[in-house]
Amino acid sequence: MDEVVALCKRRGLIFPASEIYGGIANTYDYGHYGVLLKNNVVNAWWRAMIQERDDVVALDSAIIQHPRTWEASGHLAGFTDPLVDCRTCGLRFRADHLGELQCGRKPSKHPGEADECDLTQSREFNLMFETTIGPVKDSASTVYLRPETAQGIFLDFKTTLQFARRKPPFGIAQIGKSFRNEITPGNFIFRTLEFEQMEMEYFVPPDQAEHWYQHWMQARLDWYVALGIERERLRLRAHDADELSHYSSATSDIEYLYPIGWSELEGIANRGDFDLTQHAKHSGEKLEFFDPNAGERYVPHVIEPAAGLGRTVLALLCDAYDTDEIGGEKRTVLRLSPAMAPVKVAVLPLLRKDGHPEKAREIYLELRRHVTAEYDDGGAIGRRYRRQDEIGTPLAVTVDHQTLEDDTVTLRDRDTLEQVRVTVADLVGRVTESVR
Ligand code: GAP
Repeated sequence: MDEVVALCKRRGLIFPASEIYGGIANTYDYGHYGVLLKNNVVNAWWRAMIQERDDVVALDSAIIQHPRTWEASGHLAGFTDPLVDCRTCGLRFRADHLGELQCGRKPSKHPGEADECDLTQSREFNLMFETTIGPVKDSASTVYLRPETAQGIFLDFKTTLQFARRKPPFGIAQIGKSFRNEITPGNFIFRTLEFEQMEMEYFVPPDQAEHWYQHWMQARLDWYVALGIERERLRLRAHDADELSHYSSATSDIEYLYPIGWSELEGIANRGDFDLTQHAKHSGEKLEFFDPNAGERYVPHVIEPAAGLGRTVLALLCDAYDTDEIGGEKRTVLRLSPAMAPVKVAVLPLLRKDGHPEKAREIYLELRRHVTAEYDDGGAIGRRYRRQDEIGTPLAVTVDHQTLEDDTVTLRDRDTLEQVRVTVADLVGRVTESVR
C-alpha cells in the first residue's frame, strides 16, 4: 500500500487534502490523472447500467434531503459506530477495531494495552454529518449530508415510475458523493469522510427478489473482471446474520484482496420492501406499483448493488501496480487495462530540435481527436517513457530523424516494451484499435 500511495503522490493522481494546512483526517484530493482514471470508472459503470440495458434509468438527487428522510430510513437512530476515547492521549478509536489500531503513545501496542492508557466506556456515535439550513441555528433547521445515495432514489421512486414509464423489474441508478464521519486507521482512500458511491436500486416483484439478487451478484462481479481486475483477487462473501444492516434480509460483498487483506469493494443487498414501506409510512405517500394485468397492487422489493468509486480506483491501482527491470534499472509500471488508463497514448519527440517537436505536435493534435493523448518533450527519452509507465499509458509514439524522411514513427508497448515502426497514416487506426 505504501508504494501505491507514494506513486499516487509522485504522479499527482491522489494526495492528501488541505496539505498546506497539515492535511485533514481521511480526506484526499484527486489530481489530473486521478480524475481521468475516476472518470473512466464512472463511464464504465454508466455504460453497464444504462447503455447496455434498457431497464435502468439515471438520477441525480440532492445531497441534502428533508431531515425526516433519515428518521424513516433508520439512519438517525441506528447508523452508529461504537467509539471509545483515551483520556491520556486524547485520541478516539472504534471500540470494535481496537485490535487493528495503534496506541497513541506506544504504537507497538493496541489502544488500552499500555499501562498509561485510560479508555472511556464505549459510546454509540452517529456517522451522519449535521449542518443547518438558514441563518438561525435551531433544532428545526438541522439537516444531514447524505450517508448513502440510495435514499434519494427511494424518495424519487414514485416520480420516476411515472415519467420513465417502466414497471418492475426496473432500476434507478445514481453516482454521487456521500458523507460519513468515520474514524479509521487510515488506509489511504479505502475509508474516507466523503466518497463517491455508484448505487442502483432495482425494484422487483417480491417473488423475483432471489432471482435478481443472484443476477446482480454475478453481473457486478463480471464488471470488475471486465475492468481488468484479476479474478483471483476478487471474491463474493455472504454476510452472516449478525453482520446484516437493519434493512437487509441478505447481503453479499464483492471483496478485493487489497494490501490490507480481503476487504469490501461493493455490497449487493436484498433490501426487501423496507425502504419504500418506511418512506410511505413517514410521508403518507403511497409508494407501490399497480400491475394492471394482474389487477394487483404491491410494494416492490429492492435489490441494491452499491459500489464505492474510491474503492474501485484503489483496487485498480493495487491490481495494476508492478515493478520490473529494464537494462538493470528498476521500473514502476501501472498495468491498467487500456480502457482504464488515464492517458491512452503519449507522443514524444526524440529531440527538442531538428523539426522533431513540430512533427510530434502535429501527430499529437491528430491523435487527441480520437483518444486522450499527451505531448511530452521534457527530459531524456528514457525518463519520459518511465513517467508514462508510472501513470499506465499503454502506448508511446516517438518521432525521430527517420520520421522526417519516411513519415514513420515508433510505437512502444508499455507491457511488452516492443517498439514497431508504423506509418503516420496508419497511426490513428493502430492506436484506436489497441486501446479500445
Ligand atoms: N446503500 C448501501 C450502502 O451505502 P455500504 O456498504 O455502506 O452500503 C456501499 O456502502 C459502498 O460504498 C461500499 O461497498 C464501499 O465501496 C463504499 N463506501 C462506504 N463507506 C465508505 C467510506 N467511508 N469511504 C469510501 N468508500 C465507502
